[in-house]
Amino acid sequence: MIQHLLIAVDGSPSSHHAANQGLGLARQTQAKVTLLFVLEAPPVIPVGPLSGYVMTSPPRTEADLERARTELNSLAENAAVPVETRVELGSPADVICELAERLSVDLVVIGARGLSAGTRWLLGSVSDRVVHHAPCPVLVVRERKR
Ligand SMILES: Nc1ncnc2c1ncn2[C@@H]1O[C@H](COP(=O)(O)OP(=O)(O)OP(=O)(O)O)[C@@H](O)[C@H]1O
Ligand SMILES: [Mg+2]
Repeated sequence: MIQHLLIAVDGSPSSHHAANQGLGLARQTQAKVTLLFVLEAPPVIPVGPLSGYVMTSPPRTEADLERARTELNSLAENAAVPVETRVELGSPADVICELAERLSVDLVVIGARGLSAGTRWLLGSVSDRVVHHAPCPVLVVRERKR
């Protein structure tokens, strides 16, 4: 029986679609939901043994955190099931799998693709990693072809 779902969103239309499917499933099964947004730490690359490291994108700001919270709250608003929202820092796939384990969720719900524009592969790197490493079943939601 599905009692607790973990739904991961990254701000993309694909993840919103997945979140709405996940929330619909939660309503049908009377499950509680944890909605998760992971703020990725900017990649840091070594530039040489003496010169140290450079960041390849700007660090996360308070505004990023606020955007993530707003996004989760708006999804939670009309859920009609108990929803907990969480914003975590780290590597998205690792955080999703660790939280799924820690909370002993029955199902993880993710989009097939996320923010990246590429369409060559069915799965993005996060959904691919979660499918391989999650400690529980994973529902990967593809958007219907028009
Ligand atoms: N930062 C994140 N926080 C929470 N969930 C995420 C995050 N990034 C991705 N996801 C989840 O994984 C799904 C697939 O996204 P993924 O990042 O794998 O695809 P992509 O952005 O198209 O490709 P890539 O990131 O590999 O270039 C999203 O729809 C979302 O459910
Ligand atoms: Mg992505």
